[in-house]
Amino acid sequence: MTATTVPNRPANHPLDPGPSPDPAQTGIASLGLALPSLALDVRTLAPLRGEDPDKYSLGLGCGEMALCAEGEDAVSLATAAARRAMDRWGGDAAEIGLVAVGTESAVDMSRPLSAWVADGLGLRGSVRSYEVKHACYGGTLALRQAVEWRSSGAARGRAALVVASDVALYGPEDPGEPTQGAGAVAMVVGAPEVARVDVETHAWSEPAFDFWRPVGEAYPRVDGKFSLDCYKLAAERCVGQWLGGRDGEAAREALGELAAMCFHVPFPKMVKKAVMHVGETLGWGPEETVAFFDAKVVPTLGWNRRTGNAYTASLWISVAEALRGLGPGERLGAFSYGSGFGSELLTLEAGPAAAAGAWGEDIEADLAARRLLTGDEYQRLRGLRKVA
Ligand code: HMG
Repeated sequence: MTATTVPNRPANHPLDPGPSPDPAQTGIASLGLALPSLALDVRTLAPLRGEDPDKYSLGLGCGEMALCAEGEDAVSLATAAARRAMDRWGGDAAEIGLVAVGTESAVDMSRPLSAWVADGLGLRGSVRSYEVKHACYGGTLALRQAVEWRSSGAARGRAALVVASDVALYGPEDPGEPTQGAGAVAMVVGAPEVARVDVETHAWSEPAFDFWRPVGEAYPRVDGKFSLDCYKLAAERCVGQWLGGRDGEAAREALGELAAMCFHVPFPKMVKKAVMHVGETLGWGPEETVAFFDAKVVPTLGWNRRTGNAYTASLWISVAEALRGLGPGERLGAFSYGSGFGSELLTLEAGPAAAAGAWGEDIEADLAARRLLTGDEYQRLRGLRKVA
């Protein structure tokens, strides 16, 4: 059998992908975040549901949940976050060659949420624009595609706009209700001013029905206890792959070199449960695992305690908080989990813009402007909410 030969194209042929950017030169060029204008303290919700407030705040580790007012949704949040990321980036819109939105709050079965974002920002023309769905993992997949698109050379040096945006609501009185939330994180993927994203990652998926939302239903169906087991298994498998067989002291050393370890945050106690499980599989004692959790994970959970579970945005809210203040070269891990289930552990290295952490202004402004609802107001909001 003879090998097929492909005729050489001239170097400047329009289909020539051009030189691949050095993978070390791809990452997050700028960040923007957006939260909706309302919130509820979980301790206000507890008596409405006949629960002890400590169950929500201590048992689940939750604080406040971000909630949308009439007129706010995953589209408005995504567009606001994207505008902030683009303004902060300062590049020309014509340099954006890809717009990808990860969400599980789609507003249409056909038209991608990215079309609303692109419309809002005037992005049109030579742009690949689409939506990515894989429960809470969709935003991470959109980011990975953008990073790999640039690294492959197909981007020809252009940048991508990636957005993770969601509104997480459970049925009133569902056990998941205290874990609700909302928010969006947008990232321009280009030169790694904020963080380089390592090309190598570690994924793990297993088909499961732990959390899903059938077409036409307003709220997810959840096998709550099973979902905790799926999440823990995914964390064990992803971290285990990254460690490449190291455990005990060697694992402690490798993980200890990270400045922070971020997780998808359905509710903060879930993250602690997963870390305790991973520590056990590595042969660590409970005290040393708690020490790791306190040092490397707790500082990444502050913003999530104010937003609640923002599904696709949840991990990236944590990463945005963790990157803020890091010096160039400091590294962090980011564990993404999406029900169904799919998961992936990414590693990032802080760039020169991380120390200033300009995107913190978005969170500070939105938290300062938002209004905490009373219990009555929350009940009314839920009663009035239209079923999509
Ligand atoms: P539940 O069953 O009502 O709660 O809902 P519980 O009875 O398990 O209690 C929770 C904790 O509170 C327990 O602590 C209790 O002991 C404690 P633990 O033993 O687990 O450490 N507790 C108290 N603590 C202090 N004072 C008290 C008190 N009473 C009890 N008085 C459940 C919990 C997680 C099932 C529910 O919230 C739920 O269904 N949540 C949604 C599902 C979820 O978030 N799963 C997480 C993994 S799946 C995932 O992350 C994907 C997801 O983001 C979706 C996506 O991918 O798109 C959800």
